[in-house]
Amino acid sequence: LASDEELHERIRRAKQTLGERVVILGHFYQRDEVVQHADFVGDSFQLANAALTRPDAEAIVFCGVHFMAETADLLSRPEQAVILPNLAAGCSMADMADEASVEACWEQLATVYGDLDTPDADGLLPVVPVTYMNSSAALKGFVGRHGGIVCTSSNARTVLEQAFERGRRVLFFPDQHLGRNTAKAMGVPLEAMPMWNPRQPLGGNDAAALGDARVILWHGFCSVHRRFTVEQIAQARREHPGVRVIVHPESPMPVVDASDAAGSTDYIVKAIQAAPAGTTFAIGTEINLVQRLAAEHPEHTIFCLDPVVCPCSTMYRIHPGYLAWVLEELVEGRVVNRIQVPDAVAADAKVALERMLRALP
Ligand code: 13P
Ligand code: SF4
Repeated sequence: LASDEELHERIRRAKQTLGERVVILGHFYQRDEVVQHADFVGDSFQLANAALTRPDAEAIVFCGVHFMAETADLLSRPEQAVILPNLAAGCSMADMADEASVEACWEQLATVYGDLDTPDADGLLPVVPVTYMNSSAALKGFVGRHGGIVCTSSNARTVLEQAFERGRRVLFFPDQHLGRNTAKAMGVPLEAMPMWNPRQPLGGNDAAALGDARVILWHGFCSVHRRFTVEQIAQARREHPGVRVIVHPESPMPVVDASDAAGSTDYIVKAIQAAPAGTTFAIGTEINLVQRLAAEHPEHTIFCLDPVVCPCSTMYRIHPGYLAWVLEELVEGRVVNRIQVPDAVAADAKVALERMLRALP
């Protein structure tokens, strides 16, 4: 087995040989041993944009999870190869909404609201599907076909506002927490946010609640962010008077309500950068990002709300060994672990992504 230092040396050498031919993207949740080799580090939205800034690169090596690499493939030039160093790096939340279950839900909603693809007399669709970026390209394609939009945690509110301009209600998937937290902040009452139960036929879902629904939530969640609790926040406030608590909106609603602010990974990074020296932060997001922020900001005290280390286990599957391997293969002229969205899916998925980009200020 290669030692860590040998692996880093192999990565540096391969990267140097490839030069401008390759660009390495690293999500904020990647371990430091990977992030140190990235040309761009950011959240899922920033990295999708970063892929666009290097149309000259032959290969985009995406150190993140599967749906992020698919999005980079959708937005990059067709000749560019998007590479995911370990194909087992998925996202358990994205896997909680598969196309067949969403199609089945859609068919059942049509029995309540009528033809879902035909606008009413006011020009509004009965239901607009909105998918979180953390979903397969196939689901983004579904959304694109049915008048819907993609969102990320940094623009969910703007996208939901747009969706309400297009239709009477929203089907939001896969993350129930992002959907609930965002809609609540917009003033949608909780009673108007029934949760779809994909394991039940329509009779098992509350048809009366569906009648008044504004946002129909899917049952998905992030196994990292759902670990945060109100009790952890109370403890942080007891032990660190004046602490500023910021959580990711994938956290459960009571946790978001008990925090001082909630926002995407980029929001958290910027809030820490903007704070006066000496601020104490308790952060509710993935541990690799929290620990890096703590190291980069010795002028603050920064700790994770969850005292038990909580890395995203799928992000963690990108090991420097895989990075060395895919880069060395590129040096030899071989593309391995390419992520390619089939053309039939890509066209509709791009429509949904472009609606998101147009919705943004
Ligand atoms: P961001 O969109 O903030 O990068 O989050 C992605 C993610 O997977 C959060 O769990
Ligand atoms: Fe998916 Fe959660 Fe990991 Fe983000 S942190 S990639 S939502 S499992």
